[in-house]
Amino acid sequence: MSAHTAHQELGEVVLQVKDLRQLYGRGKRAFHAVDGVSFTVFRGETLGLVGESGCGKSTTARAVLGIRPPTAGSVTLGGAELTTLRGRALREARSSMQLVFQDPYNSVNPRWTVRQVVAEPLRLARWTSSRARTRVDELLDLVGLDPARFGDRSARQLSGGQAQRVGIARALTTDPELLVCDEAVSALDVSVQAQILNLLDHLKRELSLTTLFISHDLGVVRHVSDRVAVMYKGRIVETGESDQIFENPQHHYTSLLLHSVLEVGVEPGSATRRPIEVQTPQGDPAGCLFAPRCPGARDICRTTEPELTPISPSHAAACHFPTGVVDTTRRSTSQ
Ligand SMILES: Nc1ncnc2c1ncn2[C@@H]1O[C@H](COP(=O)(O)OP(=O)(O)OP(=O)(O)O)[C@@H](O)[C@H]1O
Ligand SMILES: [Mg+2]
Repeated sequence: MSAHTAHQELGEVVLQVKDLRQLYGRGKRAFHAVDGVSFTVFRGETLGLVGESGCGKSTTARAVLGIRPPTAGSVTLGGAELTTLRGRALREARSSMQLVFQDPYNSVNPRWTVRQVVAEPLRLARWTSSRARTRVDELLDLVGLDPARFGDRSARQLSGGQAQRVGIARALTTDPELLVCDEAVSALDVSVQAQILNLLDHLKRELSLTTLFISHDLGVVRHVSDRVAVMYKGRIVETGESDQIFENPQHHYTSLLLHSVLEVGVEPGSATRRPIEVQTPQGDPAGCLFAPRCPGARDICRTTEPELTPISPSHAAACHFPTGVVDTTRRSTSQ
């Protein structure tokens, strides 16, 4: 399928984020943790948002979900602007977006039973308890937990993977328009990660879920994403279909990120994973923020900031000198 038809088929916009900014701190210490981020999530797709620790992924998620309204920019869900909503209107809009947390233990009350945890959003929405119970058991089935076996257990008695299944079931109770997964599998063992990613894949097909999937882990993002946005120091430096990003990265940062994963050679999310660098954006230096680390940087990169520029209809990079199109057919013909 050509990139063009793929894009046309993406169709209906669910989430649109435009020029999002989030300022943290005051005075000299103030910095933009998110600095002009724009992206779109279409119905039924999973958009992966990836980048090193501290690049602003969770800040973006919190702004999208209205947990911390952004300093500037626009977030629309189904065409409705969310950043100006307050009080009840905000609560209602929020119920159509659900977050799956990183740490399933912290996200559920350990004294509650599995059924209570999953039912909570329904209780808040004033469902009758018998109707809620039927729905909850359906959802437990859907996420691969036998309701008869797990329904009355307390969250404490669950493994990490089981607890994350409960977290996913809970997020799905209100039939959300948008699911936001923020490092949803990062705390899990690799084999359990794979099970949860497969579950998300299954749910996506079964329920046509629309998901913003956030992770620092490229391997994990690749597994679930239709399209990917790569973030660096509060900005999006490259967007494209998953294959374009992973087979043919155009921004030098994306390349570096990909290769460091390969070189380190450890399983995604393992404790021995070595981050390339953890940095806080500071001030507003001229030029490309990645230039100091970039193997391809030239003079202009230190003076003029590159804009996100299309390379093909579905692929864009913020780079003056993209790495160049790799002939991906070579590998297959030489084998
Ligand atoms: N409430 C806050 N006040 C001040 N600075 C913050 C706050 N929350 C986050 N930051 C800073 O903003 C930057 C972006 O943080 P954020 O949590 O969005 O990154 P992230 O990409 O989600 O990282 P990780 O992969 O570690 O989850 C970091 O430098 C972080 O230290
Ligand atoms: Mg985070």
